[in-house]
Amino acid sequence: FNKFIFLYIFIIYCRMGEIMELFDKTILLKIEEELNRQVNKEGKLYEASKHLLFAGGKRIRPYLSVLTYLLKKEDINEVLTPAVSVELIHGYSLIHDDIMDNDSERRGKPTVHIIYGEPIAILAGDLLNTLAFNSISQMENLEKAHEILKIVSKASVKVCEGQATDMEFEEKEVIPTIDEYFDMISKKTGALIVAPIEIGAVMADFTGEERKAIYEYAKRIGMTFQIQDDVLDLIGDKNTIGKPVGSDIVEGKKTIIVLHALQTLPDDKKERFLKILGNGDATDEEIKEAIEMLGPSIDYAKDIMKTATIEAKDYLKIFDEEKRKRLECIADFIIERVF
Ligand code: IPE
Ligand code: IPE
Ligand code: MG
Ligand code: MG
Ligand code: MG
Repeated sequence: FNKFIFLYIFIIYCRMGEIMELFDKTILLKIEEELNRQVNKEGKLYEASKHLLFAGGKRIRPYLSVLTYLLKKEDINEVLTPAVSVELIHGYSLIHDDIMDNDSERRGKPTVHIIYGEPIAILAGDLLNTLAFNSISQMENLEKAHEILKIVSKASVKVCEGQATDMEFEEKEVIPTIDEYFDMISKKTGALIVAPIEIGAVMADFTGEERKAIYEYAKRIGMTFQIQDDVLDLIGDKNTIGKPVGSDIVEGKKTIIVLHALQTLPDDKKERFLKILGNGDATDEEIKEAIEMLGPSIDYAKDIMKTATIEAKDYLKIFDEEKRKRLECIADFIIERVF
């Protein structure tokens, strides 16, 4: 209980000051410049890639590389290229994800496949993925480039595996365990949160002990990032999240919230819920009805996120108190965010 009060006070503290401007404008600008440098050609294919890439987006992944790097070193120019490689892979995964999830809106704009059609959207995703590896090949420090290559390619494989599992779980009769859900999200989403943090650690020459600690932090915020995404899909504001609300219900996604509901709803409600889940013909009213049944399950998901966030921040304790503050605030931001 005390821990939760502490968390609450700390969140207020983080917000209050915009004290240290959680998202530092100078850093974000540098990230934007590097993205522009990596994706700079004209023509339909590039337009399609850039449509997603420059439609907005929090840039939290490259930002995490920079914040991790700043725990130990200062010249952030060194970390920008590998940091941005992950944002490119993220962009590719989003373009393909929207095809897989049948979504027509992202970052407040129509999705790439809606505007350019699926064949170009597939290529626009492939292009961003390839440009990510191309950017790593431009790194001057070959030893580090090799390490980054290993981190990024491993993460990229995990995204594919996680995304495949995510779709397998859409089948009506497949009810994964909570552990299977965690494994799936740690691959489809966690991998691209852990990778940029590891990149920051490599570029700033972390010790073995520091690498371990930051990895434990990263794993936890990678998990809470997807859980909060699952929450926002249900109770977020469409205009704020820039994506359709209730899409996971229509697609029949087995989120942690849905899994909890399937374990706890009384039989009659559960039967009704299952009629709506994954039903492409469900009306807006029915989707709303399904979401209304999920209140206690959303609370359950929030409790899990709070515990994981406290743990994540505990792992940062070995780092300089002043320097770790922004990473602590990011952990809070991830579970409090509304977009
Ligand atoms: C959305 O990622 C996809 C997930 C992995 C949950 P973000 O919430 O980081 O999306 P952008 O980049 O800010 O648009
Ligand atoms: C995102 O999961 C995972 C990847 C894009 C790899 P979601 O499908 O939940 O992401 P959103 O909600 O469409 O952004
Ligand atoms: Mg998806
Ligand atoms: Mg999706
Ligand atoms: Mg989602």
